Amino acid sequence: MIPLLFLLLFLGGCERLETVFVEEDLLQRPPAKRCSDCHADIYKEWKKSRHFHAWTSENFRVESENYAKVKCLSCHAPHQVDPEKKPLLRAEFREDGVSCVACHFKEETRSMHGPLKVWSPPHPSRQDLSYTKSTFCAGCHRETYKEWKMAKVEKSCQSCHMPSLGKRDLIQKFPFYLFHLAKPRTSHEFPSLKASPEDVEVRLEAGKLILTNVGVPHNLPTADQGDPRLYLLAEITYANGRKKIVRKLLSPQSKTALAYRKPREIRIPPGEVKEITVRLLRKLAWSEERELIKEVTLRTPSP
Ligand code: HEC
Ligand code: HEC
Ligand code: HEC
Ligand code: HEC
Ligand code: HEC
Repeated sequence: MIPLLFLLLFLGGCERLETVFVEEDLLQRPPAKRCSDCHADIYKEWKKSRHFHAWTSENFRVESENYAKVKCLSCHAPHQVDPEKKPLLRAEFREDGVSCVACHFKEETRSMHGPLKVWSPPHPSRQDLSYTKSTFCAGCHRETYKEWKMAKVEKSCQSCHMPSLGKRDLIQKFPFYLFHLAKPRTSHEFPSLKASPEDVEVRLEAGKLILTNVGVPHNLPTADQGDPRLYLLAEITYANGRKKIVRKLLSPQSKTALAYRKPREIRIPPGEVKEITVRLLRKLAWSEERELIKEVTLRTPSP
């Protein structure tokens, strides 16, 4: 073991080391499965993400008319992701959707770009801080990026949708991981997240409800092409005992999503309101499930 370590230290000082250990096929745009030989944990996370489903999604298949609408394809199976640029369509392994290679491999340098400074013998790597910025997501999430920019917040897309996992190993392959220290890891599940009750303020004023998205720094819900929805259900009890139900759909497609910090008025049928129970539910673009975001009961203060 000790002589082996010396040998490795010696090789570490040797400039040609990189070329000695390079696994050439990694620079030939392999399928994502190949990356899992070493990056097993990241691969498992990515398989749970919507990026993995971007091509095979049944909604996408149907709405792109069985992949006949060419203008739909490039963001769902991109060749190379660059900040703020709409990607070109990939020729190979389209079923990998938004893949490891698309996001990390750059033709210009023939190496893997990423946020860290690493020593990665099997493939050259370059530290590239554009990976930590929202502009990295902007070429595809175009509308959401515009909304985020208008919100003028510090937090990047990554800080919420690629949350930190603390320090962990980037690779799991034995014995190679023994030669690398744990490094800052971010979740490749790209969670859709869910607004908290505090993210939406609900107020009652004469004849109307006022909803404000105070916590999500883009529209609630947000989309480029998908049809995510927010359902408002208000049960009103009037002073005379009469009851009414008001339903309202809020969505990007009907241009009624809640913009960040812009109050939205929702009129309610006239009368002296005694009590109103408001429920907000959300449905993501790719799911049928309706999940409760907030439930609140408001009462008109007695005069
Ligand atoms: C500029 C890049 C881009 C293009 C071009 C594009 N999409 Fe998408 N698409 C996205 C992004 C980003 C999302 C995820 C956010 C959202 O819901 O909009 C998405 C989500 C979707 C969803 C919802 C998720 C799902 O799987 O159910 C559908 C359906 C969809 N796109 C269909 C289409 C169709 C049809 C076209 C062509 C008319 C198209 N897309 C063109 C970027 C793009
Ligand atoms: C044979 C093992 C192996 C395979 C297979 C492999 N990598 Fe790596 N990769 C490494 C090692 C080793 C590191 C550095 C680990 C460390 O420093 O902890 C690394 C680091 C990285 C980084 C970090 C770069 C940075 O600067 O932040 C990225 C991105 C990356 N690999 C992408 C990929 C992609 C994409 C694939 C599939 C095409 C892949 N790797 C396949 C071994 C591998
Ligand atoms: C190459 C284009 C592309 C890039 C770059 C990209 N995405 Fe996506 N993203 C998509 C597509 C397409 C979908 C929808 C997949 C589906 O559901 O069919 C998606 C879905 C998502 C979702 C899930 C949305 C939902 O409806 O649940 C999140 C969250 C997300 N992306 C975050 C990010 C973040 C953060 C970045 C930047 C680090 C990023 N994406 C970069 C294309 C892209
Ligand atoms: C939608 C684009 C996208 C996809 C797909 C993607 N990554 Fe990443 N990856 C990123 C971004 C952005 C970061 C930097 C996040 C940060 O530091 O804020 C990153 C970070 C990394 C890192 C550095 C360590 C870490 O966890 O932050 C490695 C290694 C890596 N990715 C490998 C992979 C592998 C392997 C796959 C496929 C299984 C993959 N990535 C899929 C965008 C992507
Ligand atoms: C402060 C944290 C935060 C930041 C920053 C942020 N988001 Fe979100 N995002 C959320 C939350 C919370 C949700 C869940 C909303 C809900 O309940 O449906 C969400 C939802 C989404 C969705 C799913 C569709 C929806 O509205 O439910 C997409 C796509 C998305 N964000 C993309 C992005 C992109 C791209 C950026 C950067 C331009 C970004 N987000 C910045 C918190 C954030």
